[in-house]
Amino acid sequence: MKTTVSVIKADIGSVSGHCIAHPELMEICDDVLNEALESSILEDYYITRCGDDIDLIMTHRRGEEDEEVHKTAYDAFLKATERARELKLYGAGQDLLSDTFSGNIKGMGPGVAEMEFKERPSDPVIVYCCDKTEPGAFNLPIYKIFADPFNTSGLVIDPSLHDGFKFEVFDVMEHKKVILNCPEEMYDLLALIGSTGRYVIKRVFKKNGEIAASISTERLNLMAGEYIGKDDPVAIVRAQSGFPAGGECVEPFAFPHMVSGWMRGSHNGPMMPTSEFEANPIRFDGPPRVIGLGFQVSDAKLIGVGDGPVDLFDDPAFDATREEASKIATYIRRHGPFEPHRLPSEEMEYTSLPGVMEKLEKRFEDME
Ligand code: F6R
Ligand code: MG
Ligand code: MG
Repeated sequence: MKTTVSVIKADIGSVSGHCIAHPELMEICDDVLNEALESSILEDYYITRCGDDIDLIMTHRRGEEDEEVHKTAYDAFLKATERARELKLYGAGQDLLSDTFSGNIKGMGPGVAEMEFKERPSDPVIVYCCDKTEPGAFNLPIYKIFADPFNTSGLVIDPSLHDGFKFEVFDVMEHKKVILNCPEEMYDLLALIGSTGRYVIKRVFKKNGEIAASISTERLNLMAGEYIGKDDPVAIVRAQSGFPAGGECVEPFAFPHMVSGWMRGSHNGPMMPTSEFEANPIRFDGPPRVIGLGFQVSDAKLIGVGDGPVDLFDDPAFDATREEASKIATYIRRHGPFEPHRLPSEEMEYTSLPGVMEKLEKRFEDME
């Protein structure tokens, strides 16, 4: 029998602007998921938040894109939205684009990462959740985990990893996808995924076809056709015994790489790995955050320690990364409204440029 891990996330309202999802909303989600557990739709679940996003981590036996599982997440977000509206929370219901469910939550606003697999004798699974960034923010760390031998020494010295991995890449502008093999096509892969706003790693597989990683790639602003929120992504990664070790899966986040999505979805900034407790993007609405949660998946149950998973970035070994991210934040912030802190105008989610151009149109003269 196979197990499915589904992570579905949405920002449906937060406190103090876009800072933190209200605990009552998480309690409402908990009630809805608990009902789904009792009616055997779900086998287990864990609810967390990263900044203003609520992340529903669910396990079940129903496969990917299951209508009941997606409806459970949709109902949880819809019910929590009602409370968010009563409390006049900021951005109440922002990521739910429709008030009727049509069989699949994809395309309705929330981000979705799912994977179905046959459990190994022991199956460590890591879930990453971000805030104030976009799906392409995972390109660099996922590449490093599964293709960079300077990150993942197992690619060189562990015979079970030595064949490399296959990367499924989505072109989110043209709605096309391609599969590239690594290490054979590593340079082609990098040529694409360096363009983080367009080419996004969706899935990674072992060469034998076994699923290794799955990332949410929804781009809410492209779906809605106007800026209504960001696409703070989530990812699921399998670790150990034929996959990169847990330590190799967190190692790329020791580098606070530059991602887009900070402040009004229109600025670049360093990705800061934090504990669940510190996933509070406050300074200039950021800097962008990532949390990492480690589970053992056992008979479709999420085994953690005590009440929750291992909080992977709750480790003083990441203090230096957080300090470096803060320094980079200070440095890049000094650019104010200039690139490369501000995104190029075509990629900005807020812009006053058309209005400014209209106002100045008549005053522009030919140079010669
Ligand atoms: C939202 C976000 C924030 C907002 C900013 C302006 O996830 O990243 O940086 O874009 O606070 O928000 P509004 O336009 O709602 O005042
Ligand atoms: Mg928000
Ligand atoms: Mg968010």
